[in-house]
Amino acid sequence: MEKKFLRSSTYQINPADLRRRKLDAQRTIINAYHNALIRWYCRFRFHIINVDFLDTLEQHLAEDAHVLDIGCGFGLFALYYAIQSPARKVVGFDLSEPRIKEAQLVTQKLGLDNVTFFCQDAGEYRFNATFDAVVTLDLLHHVAAEVAERLIQQAYEALTPGGTLIVKDVNTRPVHKLYFTYALDKAMMPRSPVHYRSDLAWKQLMLSAGFAEVFSYPLNDYLPYPHMLIVARKAKG
Ligand SMILES: C[S@@+](CC[C@H](N)C(=O)[O-])C[C@H]1O[C@@H](n2cnc3c(N)ncnc32)[C@H](O)[C@@H]1O
Repeated sequence: MEKKFLRSSTYQINPADLRRRKLDAQRTIINAYHNALIRWYCRFRFHIINVDFLDTLEQHLAEDAHVLDIGCGFGLFALYYAIQSPARKVVGFDLSEPRIKEAQLVTQKLGLDNVTFFCQDAGEYRFNATFDAVVTLDLLHHVAAEVAERLIQQAYEALTPGGTLIVKDVNTRPVHKLYFTYALDKAMMPRSPVHYRSDLAWKQLMLSAGFAEVFSYPLNDYLPYPHMLIVARKAKG
């Protein structure tokens, strides 16, 4: 029987085919960036944030979810989740105008109408829409502590009932891994301050903001990052 990949709960699926299609989607996105250096960076980023991790995250994004990606960079993951499901609406913003311009160019090039990007400082962002999921990958340690706290509070308020806040960030333990990440953060963005918090501190903050449940998972990588995924869910009613 022919195996089909359909974005529906009834799809017949061959796991190897599905994985290949996801890798194809990544390649399509990477190849749409016109600059070789950006393509290299995106390849590396997709390598680190691999298909398995993206699948884990996607479990929290319904096929028709309205998703906000805060600090989306070149828009890689917003584009990826938009390509996975045409009914999903994804919005991404980032402080960096060049990165947002690249994301917009790729959106046009791929002819996607379910993803949009705009340039914005997270410190000044005010939520003016509701979202089913708010995602922020490797951003929160780059903003001031009070900005991170406000974003979490506002994300909670902007989420629909049962909505999810998904944060990938840097844990403070083990310390040698934290030093490695600090060195890399400084190499990539020397002028950007860093404010790391432990998984427990983030959880406490999210529970205080009103989230009903918060889970955190360590993310294992061949590079010595102390990265973690935190998923905070708003109560359904
Ligand atoms: C490590 S990159 C992660 C990018 C993207 N989320 C990803 O996973 O590929 C951090 C991003 O945060 C952005 N950023 C830093 N400070 C920001 C701020 N105040 N407001 C919005 N974006 C910010 C940077 O421009 C950069 O694109």
